[in-house]
Amino acid sequence: MGQKVKKFNRLLFQWYVKNHRVLPWRKTRNPYRILVSEIMLQQTPVARVLPKYAEFLKKFPAIKTLASKTLGEVLRVWSGLGYNRRAKYIWECAQEICSKHRGIFPRERAVLQTLPGVGPSTAAALEAFAFGRDEPMIDTNVRRVLCRVFFGGRAISDRALRDFARTLIPQGRGKDWNWAMMDIGALLCGARRHCLECPFGRLHGVVTPFQYKKPASRFCDSTRFYRGKVLASLASAGFRGREVSRLRRETGLHRRRLSAILSSLKKEQLVREKGEYVILP
Ligand code: ADE
Repeated sequence: MGQKVKKFNRLLFQWYVKNHRVLPWRKTRNPYRILVSEIMLQQTPVARVLPKYAEFLKKFPAIKTLASKTLGEVLRVWSGLGYNRRAKYIWECAQEICSKHRGIFPRERAVLQTLPGVGPSTAAALEAFAFGRDEPMIDTNVRRVLCRVFFGGRAISDRALRDFARTLIPQGRGKDWNWAMMDIGALLCGARRHCLECPFGRLHGVVTPFQYKKPASRFCDSTRFYRGKVLASLASAGFRGREVSRLRRETGLHRRRLSAILSSLKKEQLVREKGEYVILP
């Protein structure tokens, strides 16, 4: 192992011992619970995931419980977290694992990646956190740390970065290494941060220029916002669902825009239409 890598890992673990986050999904090796956390964390900050993770697992404590529910029941619990397609993915994973794998969570990477919504980084997280393998989980934050420290801030392909990161993990320490990288990426090595407080500052020398992202469009006008509003309304509706006219009043949407949103939700099978009423599946 090169000197730089040794030093990197020493600084990483020294920092982690004092600064790590205590998170509920780090206290389990149950692949189902880890899958739920990883899918929730894909597009949502930790603070917002925490209460929903607890609520979700209280309602659906095991993969078989989840598989026995309707998608509508799952969407009701998911409501408020956004990106509702993720709820469908978790529910479909449960269906598939129960029907094709006799309820036993698959362990092979190739099979994991065939599960709905499970891409390379979620598969890697399952390998590292549930099955104890020394596999790097490279999310946006980890990618930034690695590119800054080892590649002078240049962008590297996902596969090359994963192959490189694998060589950094000290044997048998995959879980801690990944958690430490995620924590430093989230808490210190932010996209707009200086490197002054960061233990790696001296390792990579020159401070990487700030990366300005295009400002996001306003959330409160976005289709995602209105999709969430429609689903929240349906989640609180009774068994008949909601009348389209009432949805229009509640969301304040123009007829045409509501109709486009309902069409896309129907296409994704997140809602169904029954005459003038819309309901969760
Ligand atoms: N711990 C395990 N997986 C995580 C993730 N995706 N984000 C933050 N902390 C985690």
